[in-house]
Amino acid sequence: MSNILRNPPRLPLVAPSILSADFGHMVEQCRAVLDAGADLLHLDVMDGHFVPNLTMGPDMCRALHRAFPDVCLDVHLMVTDPGQYVEPFAEAGASHVTWHIEAVTVEQSAELAQAAAGLGMTTGVSLNPPTPVEKIREYLEHADLALVMSVNPGFSGQSFIEDVLEKVVCIRTEYEYRGRLQMDGGVRGVTATRCVSSGCDVVVAASAIFGESRERWSGIIHDLRGGNQVCVGRG
Ligand code: DX5
Ligand code: ZN
Repeated sequence: MSNILRNPPRLPLVAPSILSADFGHMVEQCRAVLDAGADLLHLDVMDGHFVPNLTMGPDMCRALHRAFPDVCLDVHLMVTDPGQYVEPFAEAGASHVTWHIEAVTVEQSAELAQAAAGLGMTTGVSLNPPTPVEKIREYLEHADLALVMSVNPGFSGQSFIEDVLEKVVCIRTEYEYRGRLQMDGGVRGVTATRCVSSGCDVVVAASAIFGESRERWSGIIHDLRGGNQVCVGRG
């Protein structure tokens, strides 16, 4: 199964979140965004409990995997019980799955990571803006990726919360985390550059891409890469 998240970092990766795509033309929208230079697709899964919104499930992942078998599908689980969904998403062709540390203990997270790896996926752990960065430290040992939320999850189109950049610096420098570091929420050109300078090597964007006309996607994706910055802070 294809998974660009396993590759060594060079330029930052751009992960369009399909939450802002036109659901009536999903495959076509994804083809266009990949043609415009996107590296992977980010699927925001919400259960109506962990966040006040319901979005998509394994069937969407399966449809995208059928349409794009070589594309990395990055599943972001904003759910109360991630253990319920790891296997269904693996069966649906997911390459990567991230869950929230607000939803699981360190021990549960380690078990989930082992299960997901056994099913061929890489794994990530995420923290919400109000959660102190110290909380994620113990979870990092078993994660291929750390996802720092820069909005309170639930909806696309919110404003970037600046304070979270300090978390990125802390995870990279103080905790010396060498896995992928992803930012999600309110990321657009200028903020993307700052995310990458702080140590991120994967940026997620929904409205910054799908909210603009298709002709602009290629330029937007270039800018989201942080103006060709090479990833910093990784050994
Ligand atoms: C937020 C989701 C994000 C969201 C990003 O709950 O996890 O992936 O779709 O949307 P933008 O980029 O519009 O803030
Ligand atoms: Zn997301």
